[in-house]
Formats: sequence, structure tokens, C-alpha cells
Amino acid sequence: MNKSIAVLAGDGIGPEIIKEAIKCLEAVGQRFGHSFSFNSAYVGAAAIDACGDPFPQETLEACLEADAVLFGAIGDPKYDNDPSAKVRPEQGLLRMRKALGLYANIRPVKAYEILEDASPLKPEIIRGVDFVIMRELIGGIYFGEPRGRNEQGDKAFDTMVYDVEGIKRITEKAFEYAYKRRKKLTLVDKANVLATSRLWREFVTAYAKDHPEIEFDTMFVDNAAMQLIRDPKYFDVVLTGNMFGDILSDEASVITGSLGTLPSASIGEKTSVYEPIHGSYPQAAGKNIANPIATILSAAMMLEYEFDMEEEGKAIREAVEYSIEQNYTTSDLANGTQSTTEVGDFIATRIKSGSLEAV
Ligand code: IPM
Ligand code: MG
Repeated sequence: MNKSIAVLAGDGIGPEIIKEAIKCLEAVGQRFGHSFSFNSAYVGAAAIDACGDPFPQETLEACLEADAVLFGAIGDPKYDNDPSAKVRPEQGLLRMRKALGLYANIRPVKAYEILEDASPLKPEIIRGVDFVIMRELIGGIYFGEPRGRNEQGDKAFDTMVYDVEGIKRITEKAFEYAYKRRKKLTLVDKANVLATSRLWREFVTAYAKDHPEIEFDTMFVDNAAMQLIRDPKYFDVVLTGNMFGDILSDEASVITGSLGTLPSASIGEKTSVYEPIHGSYPQAAGKNIANPIATILSAAMMLEYEFDMEEEGKAIREAVEYSIEQNYTTSDLANGTQSTTEVGDFIATRIKSGSLEAV
């Protein structure tokens, strides 16, 4: 198969981790006889520096023309420390999500037994954890209007807005997932306080009644934050809004031991985007120490979800697991001492040679 991939490396460690994911995709190409073409485009602070816009028109076009988008990370401390900055790198990411209609962000959380020691949680709590957070990505408080300041500048406001249409499409996706998994779905909201949450609850509860095969329950987000680390095995599919999903998915990364291992897929009405859940980690930029696994696993999700390349995705996963088993990892994991490029090379080599089980 020939597939074209738009590559938006972005800021901080973005370019370094993306390079390793491309290496792995090329290894897949070699082993399975596919050809991937990569078309790079600017996003985030890198795009502001290049042309004053965090999501330029050419980048949007590159995304729309591609079969899928591989995204690194964005964010730069020079903007974080300047609350008056008019253009911010994050706007690039949010505009991309909106422009591509990326309504469902899928964040799988799976504990690797071998990494049990890397997590601050007890092994018996994390062993066997396997759930997925379905985060709504183009609604809620991230996008609601009005937002901003009053004239005097001494009052600021954001607005949380959801309509049934926005809730419906992510609910359908989440149930579709639940059917393929352990048939259990938990809606996380704050329906005891928020009107938007009550609309979610009304809609999703009615939807669940039409799908009795799926075990359905609801949980307030504060309780969910607690249950997620108290008893993470409880969860299978977690359906939630934009902001709650953002927060809970960072929390969930503690289960796997490192934010550097969690991939994600943002499913769109147009082209879909595959990206690690972590940010641009500016302190590590250029040091060749960032963990490329989350991005490499995002590439695996791209192969499986987008191109129906099950075997190929499995080959990447197997190679990642092998690197972890061999303790060939970056320093955020267990006793890892390897560099970003060394880990990428190791995984790519393993993909090319393959293991007996993966062939
Ligand atoms: C994420 C990130 C983004 C978000 C930031 C960088 C805007 O934290 O993808 O989880 O809040 O959605
Ligand atoms: Mg986040």
C-alpha cells in the first residue's frame, strides 16, 4: 500500500520523537512492503517563528491532502511565561482539532507488567489495567463563546457549551468501542453541578438503554479522579468531555509509569491525527533523552485504525514491548539509560527482523 502522512513535529521534543516514529514506520514499510511518504508542515511555536501563525493555511492543506497526520507536540515556555502574548502555540493545536473536526480523542491506558516498578502505585493495583479514555475534543470549555475579559480587564470568563449533536457523535464512537472491548462504559461528568453535564447524562443514559448489552454507569469527575488510581481495573471505556478528559488522561498516565508511553488517536470528520498525549517537554528538547514510545505507539494506532494494517501495528507494539522487556528504554522508565535515537533504532530494528510471534 502507498500512504501519505502529513508530519507536524511541532515544538520542544516534537521533532526528536517524530523522527523515531518515522524510522519505525519506514521499518514497517520495509518488512511488509508498504511505501509511506512523509510531508512535513509547521505547527505551534515553530510555525509562529516561521510565519507568525501557529496553524498556517499550508499546514491545514497538508493535513487535508494526507491519508493521516502524525503529530509531535507543541508549546514553548516563552509563551507560557507571557500571559499577554496574542498568539500562542496551543492555538495551533486547537485550530487544527477544530478545522479537521477531530471530535473523538482516544487515549488507551494499558499497564505493562514489566514497568510495574516505574509506577508509584502498587503492582496489585495496576496489574492488568486496560481501559480507554474517550475524550470529546472539539467542544466544551475549550471552545465555548463568549470567552475573554471584561473591558476593565479585571474579570475573565470561559464558557462550557455542548449540544446534543456534539454529544451524540462521541457517544456513538464510545459505544462502538465498548462493543469491541469488555462491553462496559462509564460516563464521567459533573451532573450534580453543571448544566452541560446534565445534558450529557440525559442523552447518554437514554442511548445506553437502547444498548442493554453494554454495562453502563455514570460517575462524577471528582470521584472518577479518585477511582482511577484507587481501582483502575474497574474501567473499560471512559466517556467524557474535553476538559475532564484532558485532566484524567494525564492522571491515568501514572498507572503506566510514564507519560512518555501513552499514545492517542484523534478521529476526525476529515483526516485523523495520531499524537502522543504528552506535551513538548521543553526542558528535554535537543538533549536526545525524550521517550519516543508514545509517538511510536501513536504510529501503530494510525496503521491499525486508519489503514487497517493490523499485523503491522502489532509488529510495532511487539517491538516496543520487547524494548521495554530488554530494559532498553529512556531514563523516565525503570532503569533506562538509552537515548531517544538508540531506543528508536532498537525498536525499528526489531520491527524489521520481527519476532516469531509477530510474523
Ligand atoms: C493535550 C494537551 C492539550 C490539551 C494542550 C497542549 C492544549 O494537554 O492534548 O492533552 O489541553 O488538549
Ligand atoms: Mg493534556
